[in-house]
This record gives sequence, C-alpha cells and structure tokens, in this order.
Amino acid sequence: MYQVADLLDALWRDYTASTPQADRIHALLVARGETVHNDHVALRTYGVPGIDIAALAKPFEDHGWIAREHYRFQEKHLRARYWQHGDPNLPKIFISELIVEEMSPTTQATIERLVAQLPPGFGARPDLPWAGRPWTLTHPEYQQLLAESEYAAWMAAFGFRVNHFTVDVGKLVSFPDLPALNAFLSEHGFVLNDAGGVIKGTPAERLEQSSTRADSIEVAFSDATVKVPSCYYEFARRYRLPSGELFQGFIPASADKIFESTDVNPKPRS
Ligand code: NI
Repeated sequence: MYQVADLLDALWRDYTASTPQADRIHALLVARGETVHNDHVALRTYGVPGIDIAALAKPFEDHGWIAREHYRFQEKHLRARYWQHGDPNLPKIFISELIVEEMSPTTQATIERLVAQLPPGFGARPDLPWAGRPWTLTHPEYQQLLAESEYAAWMAAFGFRVNHFTVDVGKLVSFPDLPALNAFLSEHGFVLNDAGGVIKGTPAERLEQSSTRADSIEVAFSDATVKVPSCYYEFARRYRLPSGELFQGFIPASADKIFESTDVNPKPRS
C-alpha cells in the first residue's frame, strides 16, 4: 500500500497538470520564503453507489483520515462531508457528490450513460481519487449537462481528480490577512472569483475563503476537443472558536459561491 505522502504527492501532480496556475502560485509563495500548508483538498463525484462519497473516501480512511461533519448544498444539489487526519499538518479532505435523483430526466440519462461505461471494480481502485475520466462523452452531452449543473458537467469532463487544493493562509508568515494575499495574487495577474464578493465568509463565521478563477484546458470529447474550465486554487483563513480552538468546518453558503469558480460563464458580482 502507498504511503500518505505518496497519496498527497500523486494528488498534487495530477491537479497541477490540469491547473498550471496552482503550480505558479505555489512557486511564487515559496520564492517569498513561505512554506505552503494545505487547509483542505476537495474532490467531486456523482452520488451513485460504488463511486459515491463513501467510495472516494475509502483510500483516505485507509490512510488515517477520520470522517467529520456532513453538509447539504440545496441550491447546487450536493451532499458533502469532510475528513480530518490525526496529523494536524495534513490537509482535511472535502468530498462532495451530486444528488443525481434531483436532476432532470435528461441529465440523469446522460449520467447513467457515463456510469454504464465504468470498468468492473473501478470504484474500488486504491487510486480512485486520481483515476481520471473512465468514460467518453460528446460535446453536446457536456453542454446539456452544463445547462443544468456546472458540477455535473465538470465531473463528466474531468472524472476522478482533485477539484482544488486550498492554501492555509493562517500558516503563511508574510501575509497578515486574506486581503493581503489576494492583492499579491492580483498584482501577479491572477484572476480571483468574485461571485458573492472576492472573500466568502466572515471572521464571525470563523472562516474566510477566496479562490482563483479556474484555468481552462483542452478536453477531448468523442466528437471535438474544446477548452473548458478545469480547476482552481483556493485560500482559506480560519479563526478561533470561543473555546480557543481553530474552527475546522465549512460554511455551506460560502461553498455555494466557491463552487462557481469553475463556471463557464461566471455571473457578474452581485
Ligand atoms: Ni474548498
């Protein structure tokens, strides 16, 4: 069995292959003298038995991550949960799944066609979190999914891989707060997701987050190769609870907006 460091390394390499901006931002922070710690790593899937949250969590649970709170994102039709490791220096793992039965009959049929292509035993692979896309689809199928759910379309186009890594801003030493980091990123030409404001969450909610807009990369559909948004890089600053402990959970209303970092046609800031 591979080790925890190999697992995180495999995830990072797979993620930066489709998200070159994450590698560039990481290098800029390291060049400033920072050691980058990750707050969490986020993965997506379809809520279909065998490849659902439980299946995707298995390789992490096998390596010491422990299941924590559940979340429900009504507007996006998602369920999610996070896992925490006994080693506080390791990132939390945040896994969400699309509630397929809440989608239209057309979308459900498209997802069924994708899932029908899974090789036997696919969901039990120890490398499931970076196994890639196990199905083919046409560009019109992608566009149909996109019209209803950006999340459904992203999953169809990219399959099993990290959606984003998240820098733990509280562990950076040369940035006093999240606005300072955001300003640094903007100065270096990175575009931040401003759906719901650049910073989601407040100190009162114990969690502030920002993220870049997703890179676009070429994706091979069975009838065409098209550039579509891939993954983004996220930044989180946590605050202490009255108990003195850092808040470790997530804020569904903020995550709803963060999910829009991979939207093809981002809504203007409201
Ligand atoms: Ni996140």
